[in-house]
Amino acid sequence: MRVLVTGGAGFIGSHFVRTLLTRGYPGLTVSDVTVLDKLTYAGNRANLAGLDVRFVTGDVADVARVEQVLAGHDAVVHFAAESHVDRSIRESAVVTRTNVLGTQVLLDAAYRHQVTRFLHVSTDEVYGSIAVGSWDERSPVDPRSPYSASKAGSDLLALAYHRTHDLPVLVTRCSNNYGPYQHPEKLIPRFVTNLLDGLPVPLYGDGGNVREWLHVDDHCAGVAAVLAGGRPGEVYHVGGGTELTNRELTGLLLAACDAGWDRVEAVPDRKGHDRRYALDSTKIGTELGWRPRVDFTAGLAETVRWYRDNRTWWEPLR
Ligand SMILES: NC(=O)c1ccc[n+]([C@@H]2O[C@H](COP(=O)([O-])OP(=O)(O)OC[C@H]3O[C@@H](n4cnc5c(N)ncnc54)[C@H](O)[C@@H]3O)[C@@H](O)[C@H]2O)c1
Repeated sequence: MRVLVTGGAGFIGSHFVRTLLTRGYPGLTVSDVTVLDKLTYAGNRANLAGLDVRFVTGDVADVARVEQVLAGHDAVVHFAAESHVDRSIRESAVVTRTNVLGTQVLLDAAYRHQVTRFLHVSTDEVYGSIAVGSWDERSPVDPRSPYSASKAGSDLLALAYHRTHDLPVLVTRCSNNYGPYQHPEKLIPRFVTNLLDGLPVPLYGDGGNVREWLHVDDHCAGVAAVLAGGRPGEVYHVGGGTELTNRELTGLLLAACDAGWDRVEAVPDRKGHDRRYALDSTKIGTELGWRPRVDFTAGLAETVRWYRDNRTWWEPLR
């Protein structure tokens, strides 16, 4: 299988490519990997250092570039996106262009080139917010931020290409990822790098927002399982199963960095901040045998250690 990975220089995409090329994934025989990435502030070639990968710098919304790069590939794994909610509130245009238009451009090219798999990486945020229980794959989407609305738009477009054109589209919707190589704009790396530098950490609102945490290695294994064995036209949840309020997570990060609550600065809540996300991931377990394997306590400790040991990676990004 010749695979085109978009956004492969980012946090999750680079983890997927690294694992694909070093350990491999069950059920996936891959001969060539091409990464298409615009190298925005969030993309970093160093994330792919030492890997035997063809790297193409380019924009997923650039029709000519995508047409040229996609030819000759059997599968597309589409990670590329503007992925930061706060940024989407400040700069909706760039987020909508990349996430919605970029996905449509890729889908068109994938249809023209008759790829055999198109996996679109989506998010639990498309559902909005849920007070109790969890969403399953049939729950209605109800996005609240420009980011989640753009992801819902691209996710539904991908499914529409399956229904309209019979393009073999697969959609994964995952919960909040953590792990090494995540940009320090995101909660866990931001808190850890601030704490390592003796700076305060900003906690939104009352700290009661709940997120379900998923190690990036488990997420990528879920993506690989769906790519290998998922049914076209279907959505699969990939949830980590560890629910924490931001306040609880802050306590764990403070402890991991030997810091106290005096380092926490309450800041006004994010506009339209979703209160709670929770996925029911039964389907991917039943159909494809996936489950999260990384214990949260161990995964978080290993992540904090990685940021402690890799200052040269994150210092230039702050
Ligand atoms: N990080 C999470 O917790 C999380 C949770 C759910 C879903 N997701 C989804 O997973 C995917 C990957 O997320 P991430 O955290 O690795 O994001 P990231 O911001 O770390 O990486 C995004 C990558 O996409 C590239 N990119 C951005 N715009 C582009 C464009 N126009 N053309 C080509 N490349 C472009 C960037 O250069 C970067 O390498 C995204 O689709 C995101 O919506 C992430």
